[in-house]
Order: sequence, then C-alpha cells, then structure tokens
Amino acid sequence: MTLSDTSTAPRIRISAPLLGREVEALVLSVLRSGHLAQGPMVERFEALCTAMAGTAHAVAVANGTVALDAALAVLEIGPGQEVITSPFTFAATINAILRSGASVRFADIRDDFTIDPTSVAALIGPSTAAIVPVHLYGLPCDMRPLMSLAATHGLSVVEDAAQAHAAEVDGRRTGSFGLGCFSFYATKNITSGEGGCVTTDDSMLAERLRVMRNQGMRTRYDYAMIGQNWRMTDVAAAIAIPQMERLDEISRARRDNAAVLTSLLASIPAVTTPLVPAGRRHVWHQYTVLLEPGVDRDRVAASMSSDGVDAGVYYPGLVWDHDAYRNHPRVHRDDTPVALECTSRCLSLPIHPGLTTRDLERVAESLDRALLAP
Ligand SMILES: Cc1ncc(COP(=O)(O)O)c(C=O)c1O
Repeated sequence: MTLSDTSTAPRIRISAPLLGREVEALVLSVLRSGHLAQGPMVERFEALCTAMAGTAHAVAVANGTVALDAALAVLEIGPGQEVITSPFTFAATINAILRSGASVRFADIRDDFTIDPTSVAALIGPSTAAIVPVHLYGLPCDMRPLMSLAATHGLSVVEDAAQAHAAEVDGRRTGSFGLGCFSFYATKNITSGEGGCVTTDDSMLAERLRVMRNQGMRTRYDYAMIGQNWRMTDVAAAIAIPQMERLDEISRARRDNAAVLTSLLASIPAVTTPLVPAGRRHVWHQYTVLLEPGVDRDRVAASMSSDGVDAGVYYPGLVWDHDAYRNHPRVHRDDTPVALECTSRCLSLPIHPGLTTRDLERVAESLDRALLAP
C-alpha cells in the first residue's frame, strides 16, 4: 500500500484504549454487584499499583491531578516554600503546586526532555521544600542525582509519573523514589477513564493519604483532619484492572513500536528521534521527535492529518507561559532555553499498542511527505 491509497485506511489515532472482553466482563460484574463507589475493585487495583511501582503501598484516587494534590498535602508543602519542577509539562503539575500555596521554580531540561539535575541544583535555596520531576512521555528522569540532591538538602520528592507506568531507572520503578503520582486518564498507557494513585513505601504517609482522600475519616464519622473526596470508583478500577494485569505486555508492545518507528525515521534528516539514556527503561507514552528549526510544525501536522495520521504537540509552550500563570506572584519565570527550544520543535507521533507495522510505516511515510512538501 502506498500513501496514495490510504484514503480508505482507518485513521491512525494518537492514542487508543485497550478495552477488551475482560474489561467489559469486569465492569459488568461491578454494575451487577450494585457496589459502584470505592470498594473491593479499588482494593484490587491498588494491589496492582503496588506491583507496578514496586512499593509497599498505593492509594487510589480520582485522577492524576488530585494524586499530585494529595502528595503535596500529605508532605505539608505550602505557603512560604518553593517547589522545583520542569517547565516542559502539562498544566496539572503547576496547578497542583500553586494550589498547595507554594511558589514554583523551573529547572531546565536535557535533550531527552527530562529535568536536568544540574539546573535543579542551581535553583535550590533556603525556601526549597520539594522537587517534582516529571517523567515526561514515559521516560523516567535521571533519578540518581535528583535523589542525592534531595537527600543533601532535606527535600521531598514527588514524582509526576502520570505518563510513566512501570518505567525504570537502573531497574527501579518510577513511583518508588519519592511519592509517585500516576494518572489513569483515557489516553494514558493504562486507563480507568479517569483515575489516579499515589505510591509510597512509607506506611504513615499511606495511612494519612487514605484518611485525607475520604473526608478525613479514620473510621466512619471519626474525622481526624479536614479531608477531601478524592476517591476512585469501583467502576473505574474495573476498567483498569485487566489492563494492569497485562502491563508488561502493553509496555513491551509500545517499546517494540518505538524501535520500529526509530528505524523507519532514521533516513529522514529533518527529524531527531527520541533518546533513551543508558539505564533507563522508557514506556513510550508518547513518541516525540524534534523537527529541524524553522520547519512549520503546524503545516506538518495538518498534512499528516490529511493523510489520516494524527500527530500531537505536547506541549506547545512553557507551562507557565499562559495568562493564568505569567504574572502570578508565586510563579518564577526562570530561564530554560532547552525547554523553550523543545516546545517549538516537538511533535508526537502515534505509538500505541494497537498499531501494526504497516500503520507505523504509514506514520513515517506521512511525516516524510509532509516535510518534503514545499
Ligand atoms: C504530566 C502530567 N501530570 C499530571 C497529569 C494529570 O492527570 P489527570 O489527567 O489524570 O488528572 C497528566 C495527565 O494528563 C500529565 O500528563
């Protein structure tokens, strides 16, 4: 098949949930049980989350955003303190930090898109309370130097692992370094529609998170703190469980697709394919290339779209460079030239496990054609 006959081929989406008969059966069993809110399915889901992160505890919550809120709250991060994160991330990261009452500072990233520990070190001061590394696109950050900075300066670490289920650094899972915050949103590697969890080895923090998530109740009508309703439903957990049981297979399929795409794109000079530093296991939530400077990215994406191939821009600007944050008194507009460059040149291509080799060839051919067009 060549590009000329793709008009009848199905559209290649940037993401596609893997919902089979097992999901249908488990969701139906929850509906028939009459127990829809947090219950036994959430407990099963949490056990799978501990296996995913290699931690002693996982506390399921309603989404990845409140996982970040919960992690910052249980660590008592708040006004007068600073949190250092990446400027190359989704708004949820900065929103959670600002909601905590803390100020936010931005360290630059490396050319693998993850936060640069040297840049983090340069920002640490007397008010710094926490680092929020973002395992962007499924590639874990360089956690060894980050954890050593945290230990030296007595900082908390909250991993934004929303995009990085079962990624690894030197054999250790994301979500096991600091408090791990995962998302199970509809486009994520594993989805429950909406969902999240916080992972930790710390029993006391896990217990406080459980209380906090459930209106501050220790036992029924015994309120230990001002709490929230951050609970996940059994319906959502039932959507995720069969996928979680196939997590290794799903991650492997993404990795295999990434290897195929990298070899297909090798001959396109205007494209820099993604890097995977030694010791890190990428789980390919997104496959993101950098286009040559000066390439009209919107035109490339539009051309691919007309071939029936979706491409996405994650993210088109620094996270703070929006009306909501630009002049916010707790947002420091730190200079991050590498991140700025990446926001102008990044383009994410379909990589999900539902794609065939032929689909990946179509992605590569479509990108090549878009770049060649005048
Ligand atoms: C990097 C990052 N952080 C946090 C979140 C928030 O997760 P959720 O959409 O489940 O609230 C997302 C998800 O979109 C994300 O990509």
